Amino acid sequence: MEKLNYLDVTIHIESSYQNAVKWLDLEERQTVFLVDDNVFTFWSHLFENQKVILIPSGEAQKSLSFAEVIIEQLIDHGLDRHSQLVGVGGGVVCDLTGFIASVFMRGIRFTLVPTTLLSMTDAAIGGKNGVNTQQYKNMIGLINQPWMILCATSFLSTLPKDELINGLAESIKHACIQSAALFNFIEANLTKILSLEEEVIGELIQKSANIKCEIVEKDPTEKHLRKTLNYGHTFGHAIEKAYKIPHGKAISLGMIIANSIACQRNQLTQQTSDKVCNLLSAAGLPVDISVIDMEKLTRYVKKDKKKKGDTLDMIFIEEIGKISINSVSFEELLALEKEVI
Ligand SMILES: NC(=O)c1ccc[n+]([C@@H]2O[C@H](COP(=O)([O-])OP(=O)(O)OC[C@H]3O[C@@H](n4cnc5c(N)ncnc54)[C@H](O)[C@@H]3O)[C@@H](O)[C@H]2O)c1
Repeated sequence: MEKLNYLDVTIHIESSYQNAVKWLDLEERQTVFLVDDNVFTFWSHLFENQKVILIPSGEAQKSLSFAEVIIEQLIDHGLDRHSQLVGVGGGVVCDLTGFIASVFMRGIRFTLVPTTLLSMTDAAIGGKNGVNTQQYKNMIGLINQPWMILCATSFLSTLPKDELINGLAESIKHACIQSAALFNFIEANLTKILSLEEEVIGELIQKSANIKCEIVEKDPTEKHLRKTLNYGHTFGHAIEKAYKIPHGKAISLGMIIANSIACQRNQLTQQTSDKVCNLLSAAGLPVDISVIDMEKLTRYVKKDKKKKGDTLDMIFIEEIGKISINSVSFEELLALEKEVI
């Protein structure tokens, strides 16, 4: 169907897994599939006669202790340094598979088969792998690229609608930071996207994933440009943690907070801020930040990996498709937050 590339990674976008599986060297290499258990419930027929380890659904599995449990099972399966792992699931399984494959025997080959919209357009791409500590997300990890990414859009047919909408938040973020054309495409095709019209969803994945590929290609180790992907995430991660709400919903609120602060600093017009807010809301994402307790959030934000002493790099959009990176002190942040929220 479509093929994208970044660094030396190939992303195949196909309508079905059966079309994509030919790209895996299943005859050549000993392979273990790490499969999200919800995905397996619907799609077990795809993994007949394969070695499968089921990964219980949920963020709790992204932990060092669970990674160790899986590694013990890989040893029991007799894997060696020439074997490969294939992670099949959403961002949780992608992050976990990449982490395990990167540290098991000092690194074996891995392929990601993302099954949520969020993982197809974002989490699977870029080689950021990792697990959480008890309190903080993605605190332990490394950057190591997958050998290949296989996107099969048919997986989305069993994805709960709420999860589809969460994923759409990342595509809207990609549009905001890099592409007014993608923003217009999502605006114009929202109903078709939400009803998974095949051609439109394929085009959305291709356009959205391509933005992440271009950014990672230019800045694989997050020195500068890749930070732009954190638009909405400084507060988004804190909201996700503090309010235990899904990633997509949390970054929707994070984008609204970033836009509010940018408007307050006269770096963004209210009109553009409203345009973003309207699209997020039409997609079914939360936009009401009046319910957020900022004191509570700031405690989490202060633990952000991107903080530098008493300042934090925040991404603002200045117009749709154009961003700026801003060093904001906690002092300024708290003062601004009191005014805008
Ligand atoms: N590495 C990165 O660059 C990066 C970027 C963004 C997010 N992430 C991480 O991704 C994770 C979130 O990913 P996610 O939103 O995909 O969540 P997820 O992996 O938890 O999946 C969401 C839910 O959908 C279910 N599911 C997945 N695919 C399905 C399918 N096809 N049919 C039925 N059910 C299905 C899962 O069991 C789960 O319950 C977070 O841990 C986040 O930190 C990583």
